[in-house]
Amino acid sequence: MPIAQEIRYRAYADWTDEEIKQIKENVAKSPWHTTYHIEPKTGLLNDPNGFSYFNGKFSLFYQNWPFGPGHGLKQWVHTESEDLVHFTETETRLLPDHAHDSHGAYSGSAYEVDGKLFLFYTGNVRDENWVRDPLQIGAWMDKDGKIEKFDQVLIQQPKDVTEHFRDPQIFDYEGQFYAIVGAQSLDKKGFIKLYKAVDNDVKNWVLVGDLEFGGTGSEYMIECPNLVFVNNRPVLLYSPQGLDKSELNYGNIYPNTYKICQSFDTEKPELVSPSEILNLDYGFEAYATQGFNAPDGRSLIVSWIGLPDVEYPTDDFDYQGAMSLVKELSIKDGKLYQYPVEAITSLRSSQEAFADKDATNNTYELDLHFPANQVSQLLLFADQKGNGLKLTIDTNVGKVRLDRSKAGLPFATDFGTIRECSIDAKETTARIFVDKSVVEIFINKGEKVFTSRIFPEEGQSGIHVLTGQVDGQYFELN
Ligand code: FRU
Repeated sequence: MPIAQEIRYRAYADWTDEEIKQIKENVAKSPWHTTYHIEPKTGLLNDPNGFSYFNGKFSLFYQNWPFGPGHGLKQWVHTESEDLVHFTETETRLLPDHAHDSHGAYSGSAYEVDGKLFLFYTGNVRDENWVRDPLQIGAWMDKDGKIEKFDQVLIQQPKDVTEHFRDPQIFDYEGQFYAIVGAQSLDKKGFIKLYKAVDNDVKNWVLVGDLEFGGTGSEYMIECPNLVFVNNRPVLLYSPQGLDKSELNYGNIYPNTYKICQSFDTEKPELVSPSEILNLDYGFEAYATQGFNAPDGRSLIVSWIGLPDVEYPTDDFDYQGAMSLVKELSIKDGKLYQYPVEAITSLRSSQEAFADKDATNNTYELDLHFPANQVSQLLLFADQKGNGLKLTIDTNVGKVRLDRSKAGLPFATDFGTIRECSIDAKETTARIFVDKSVVEIFINKGEKVFTSRIFPEEGQSGIHVLTGQVDGQYFELN
C-alpha cells in the first residue's frame, strides 16, 4: 500500500519516540533479515551513495527514508569498512535539514579532498505548489563524521532540462575533477551533462557540455550515471528509465545498464566508440549501481538490491531494500566482469563438497561447476513439496535461467517470474551467495550476474539438484 505523502514528508523531528520504537519493533520481527548484506535499520534503503575511500577506510552511504518502506524525505546513512565485506553503520547522517535539501538529500557521490570527504549530491527542493527545484549541492564530512554543508548551490538547474536533474558523480580524470549529472531534456529524453571543477576547486563547477555516449534518448530519464575506468577504458554505468525494449531486452521495471567505451574526450565531450547498451545484471533486482575508482586503481561497484515503484514482502515489517556485495570490475576479451572482492572468502566458516541438502540456514556460498553439453537444474530455498528458486544452466544451447515463480512469497509478479541470459555453450561455473532473502549469482567468474530477492517461507532452505551433474563446494558463511 502506498504511503500517503503527508506521512512521507513529515519532518523527522515530528516522529515521536513511541512511533520510532514501534517501527523498530516491527522491523525486528521480520524473518528475512540478511546477515552479511547491508540493510536499513528501519524504513527504505535505496541507492548506494558516496562510495569512496576516506581516512584509510571505505565509506559507503545508503539512501534512506527511516520511517517506513516508502520513498519519503530521504537522508544518507553512513557506513564504513576496511575490507569491503564487513560494513559498520556509523552515527553520521546527511540529513534533509537545509533550505537546499528541504525535500530530501538525493543521490550523489563522494571524494576525499585535502583530508575531508567532499559529498556531492542533489538537494530535492519543492515549493508550496510542490514544484521541484533540483539543486546540485555539497558538504564536507570530516574525520569525526561531522557534516558541514556548503551555503552555495554548486550547479543550478540548466534551462534545457526539466525538474529531473540529479545524482552528480565526481571523478578524477588525469588529475582534473569532473562530474556527470543525470538529466531529462525538455522533450523528455534522458541524457547526461558533464561539468568540470575550475582549478580543481570542488566549490566551482562549469558546464563542459552534454556528454556524447551513443545514447538514443529512448529513455525518459537517466538516473545515477557513473563513469569508472576499468583497465584504462571508460565504462559508463547508468539507470535509463523507460528505455525502449527494442533497444535492450530487460524484465525489470527499470534497467541498470552499461557501455564500455574506448576513451574519454573531455573537450567534445564524448565517450569515444561506445559499445552497444548492455544489461549490468540479469536478476530481478539491481538498480542505481554506483562505482568509483579506488586509490589503488580498482573499480568497485555496489548496487541497490531493489527497484523503485515495487512492493516487497518486508514492507509489512516497515523496511525494504538491501545493498549488494561490493563487486570489482575487470575487462577480459572486451567483456565486462563483476566479481566479489577477494576478502569475501573471510565470511566462510565451514567447507564441504557440494551435495543435496534438505535444510540449510540460507546463509551460504556455493562454488559450482557445470560440464559442457548438459542441462543442469538446481533448486535453492527448496522445500519438500518441490518449491524453490530454480536455476537452470544449459551448457548445450548456452543459457542461464532463473525462475522464482515457486520461490517463497510471490511479489512483483507483474514483471514476470523468469529472468534469463545467454552464455557460451561450454563448461560453466557459478558462484552463488545466499543470504536469508538475497541471492547473488556470478556466472563464469562474473561475466553474467543475477541479483535477486526471495522471501522464503518456513522450511524453504534446501538445495536440490533436479537434473545434471553438478560438482563444487558448499561454504557456510557468517
Ligand atoms: C534512483 C533515484 C535517484 C534519486 C534517488 C531519490 O533510485 O530516483 O535518481 O536521486 O533515487 O531517492
